[in-house]
Amino acid sequence: MVIQFLLFLAFYAIAKRLLHKIRSLPPSPFLTLPVIGHLHLLKKPLHRSLSQISRRHGPVTLLQFGSRRVLVVSSPDAAEECLAKNDIVFANRPRLLARKHLGYNYTSLDSSPYGEHWRNLRRIASLGLLSTNRLLTLSSIRTSEVRSLLRLLAKSGSQSVDMKCAFFELMLNVMMQMIAGKRYYEENVGEVEEARKFREIVTQSFRVGGVTNIGDFLPFLRRMGLEGLEEKITALHKKRDEFMQSLIDESRSGEGDESPEESAEGGKRKTLIQVLLSLRETEPEYYKDETVKSLMLVLLLAGTDTSALTMEWAMSAMLNQPEILKKARAEIDEVVGHDRLVNESDLPKLSYLHCVVNETMRMYPVLPLLIPHESAKECCVGGYRVPRGTILLVNLFSIQNDPNYWPNAAKFRPERFTGMEGVRDGYKMMPFGSGRRGCPGENLALRMIGLTLGSLIQCFEWNRISDELIDMTEGTGLTMPKAQPLLAKCRPRSFTSDLLSQA
Ligand code: HEM
Repeated sequence: MVIQFLLFLAFYAIAKRLLHKIRSLPPSPFLTLPVIGHLHLLKKPLHRSLSQISRRHGPVTLLQFGSRRVLVVSSPDAAEECLAKNDIVFANRPRLLARKHLGYNYTSLDSSPYGEHWRNLRRIASLGLLSTNRLLTLSSIRTSEVRSLLRLLAKSGSQSVDMKCAFFELMLNVMMQMIAGKRYYEENVGEVEEARKFREIVTQSFRVGGVTNIGDFLPFLRRMGLEGLEEKITALHKKRDEFMQSLIDESRSGEGDESPEESAEGGKRKTLIQVLLSLRETEPEYYKDETVKSLMLVLLLAGTDTSALTMEWAMSAMLNQPEILKKARAEIDEVVGHDRLVNESDLPKLSYLHCVVNETMRMYPVLPLLIPHESAKECCVGGYRVPRGTILLVNLFSIQNDPNYWPNAAKFRPERFTGMEGVRDGYKMMPFGSGRRGCPGENLALRMIGLTLGSLIQCFEWNRISDELIDMTEGTGLTMPKAQPLLAKCRPRSFTSDLLSQA
């Protein structure tokens, strides 16, 4: 019986291999098992496991995740072929279970297929929140939230501070104010219930948001209800939906609207909810509650965790190499001085700080596999045929940490970016993705990260809580968190309290 089974396996593997060759498909690992395909080769974190597979099989590899074909690309050339030459072909998102429920049946901005509806959502996101004009109008929200954080840290004395929480709360306050006109965390006020709920929503959403839900690839598990995932996701969707509905209801009733009254230009400043609700008056059919809720949710989630995690990685890397922190501080002292706080308009002149941010996003891309794409029709990548309906994972982590493209790749060395403008270096460095599905929040994220890190470095002396280096191991999920939250100590510099009392 065992021999028969082994013979069957050998025959199956050889037949698969032959078929693969005849169909000009990209290389794959030899042992494709019945039913599970290559799932037995995968470990967490997924981006590291995929990097290992690509090292053996090349930068364009085709895997079988159970019933789904997955193309993994891990070189700049292959990424360019997918995101530039075949940009429209790969502009779809795969239909995964989490996206069905959490993405309002694939209609949310991040999960909807490429087309008219998606284009419209991107336009509204820009109009209501992310365009350069809107960002300028909303700049005082960012400045005042960063200053609140500085004041809070100034009171921490010699105690260690949980910087993961601090960055998360900062970003949540900023995003919440821009979207719904309210803030959750006040100086001297502990965590409020609503904020705790939202933090739970974020953590759970990113946990189920990637391509690691086995039920997506082995549908029989789902049908048999063995995984229990669908129930978990449905419960999470309910929580998220209720949370958003309460924000809309509050906004309609005018309650809880703390949005600052005047913009920099003196006009009334509108929150995203207000923009969406006013659009609904002209087009009620299109701007249903679901559309409004899903757009707010995507922006709130996408904006909070990604930027907060990047700041946490940056501070951790700098605390492990205090000479970098010192160099960044010297630059700030020279450009800004001690008589005023850093502001966003200083950022273009803080070129070393910009290098630190770039080096952080190179080594620790918070979306290490971007967001999964899917091919809408057959296409060609690296000379191989890629069938329609193939999931695409661009292994950004692998590309940005590959010693073939980055000398001394494992070393955190901001100087390597000296003289580079922006955060893009062809397809070997693209932390915000590229092409039609590239990140629409890049401008906002860079402003917030630069302003926050610049202000923290300007106002405080930073230290690790012990002599031990900070653990830089990554955790798992759609985004790449640090496995251990960053704890640090900070001491205000001699001029800090004067600056904060004037701010
Ligand atoms: C450090 C901060 C951030 C990083 C590194 C980042 C990175 C990315 C990446 C890599 C993608 C996927 C691109 C692809 O699939 O090809 C993405 C998508 C997206 N990002 Fe960001 N992002 C950041 C901050 C933000 C912010 C602040 C917002 C908005 C408030 C935002 C909104 C989005 C949205 C809505 C998408 C989905 C776009 C679509 O499917 O059309 N992101 N981001």
